[in-house]
Amino acid sequence: MSDADRYGVFGHPVGHSLSPFIHGMFARQTGQHMSYRPYDVLPAEFPQRVRAFFAEGGSGLNITLPHKIAAVELAAELTERAAHAAAVNTFARQGDAILGDNTDGAGLVNDLCDNLGLVITNRRLLILGAGGATRGILAPLLGLGPATVVIANRTRERAESLAAAFADLGALQGVDFEHVGEAPFDLVINATSASLSGEMPPIPPSAISPETVCYDLAYGRSASAFVNWAAGAGCARALQGLGMLVEQAAESFRLWRGVRPETAHVLAALTARAASARGNGG
Ligand code: ATR
Repeated sequence: MSDADRYGVFGHPVGHSLSPFIHGMFARQTGQHMSYRPYDVLPAEFPQRVRAFFAEGGSGLNITLPHKIAAVELAAELTERAAHAAAVNTFARQGDAILGDNTDGAGLVNDLCDNLGLVITNRRLLILGAGGATRGILAPLLGLGPATVVIANRTRERAESLAAAFADLGALQGVDFEHVGEAPFDLVINATSASLSGEMPPIPPSAISPETVCYDLAYGRSASAFVNWAAGAGCARALQGLGMLVEQAAESFRLWRGVRPETAHVLAALTARAASARGNGG
């Protein structure tokens, strides 16, 4: 295998990343000759490790936590969606330069619209959290023309400033959790990191109706606090972000290889793996 076919994911920690499994399945399915491996990279080493990877002939990288914001500085050029997100999750070699892209928002939109069959246009959206994850999904969601997007955050000022930064792309409002309003939403997206510590943002139950779909950007154990809360609040569907993970990977793969892999059977394989891990107590 030549150097031109080397890919990987840089993160810390990266041991549990599902990306090598996903890209391995994509490569087999599309007959692409490439390698893809995880690299555990400390923040202090990140810039030189990225430069070395490409200097040694690597073709592309996924960038995951905690490096997505630092990655912006290393790209010679950013796609428009990466510039909007102010974060990079994909590097691609362009001659001797590095292109920075962000496929997270497109991954979410593909999962919501194509896999789950949801309609966003003219619907009411509530996004919980105003950090990097929210910034990454706002432009693609607003591009679908929702009636309104409310960003609710523990620190109100962060929600207000995100709402102001994206005001030219659609109707949106930044509030704290007490000012989410009484009317239910069609879609509630959890983009906080509260679930990581098993916590739930304090949203009023009135935000949820029997028609509301609830979606956590995280998956597995990290999504369970929100997903369990949403199911208990009586929403129509409580979903986690495994589909978004597979879809953002497919967008990266297309950027690198010029071919869009089929995602349904990869998502099915990951869902089966997760179910069998639960069955084994892991
Ligand atoms: P990310 O890149 O994952 O979005 P971040 O930029 O650190 O990470 O943002 C984390 C988000 O989760 C923020 O919106 C944060 O709220 P604050 O801006 O008030 O800090 C939110 N968050 C984290 N823990 C939370 C908790 N226990 N309850 C509610 N919101 C929480």
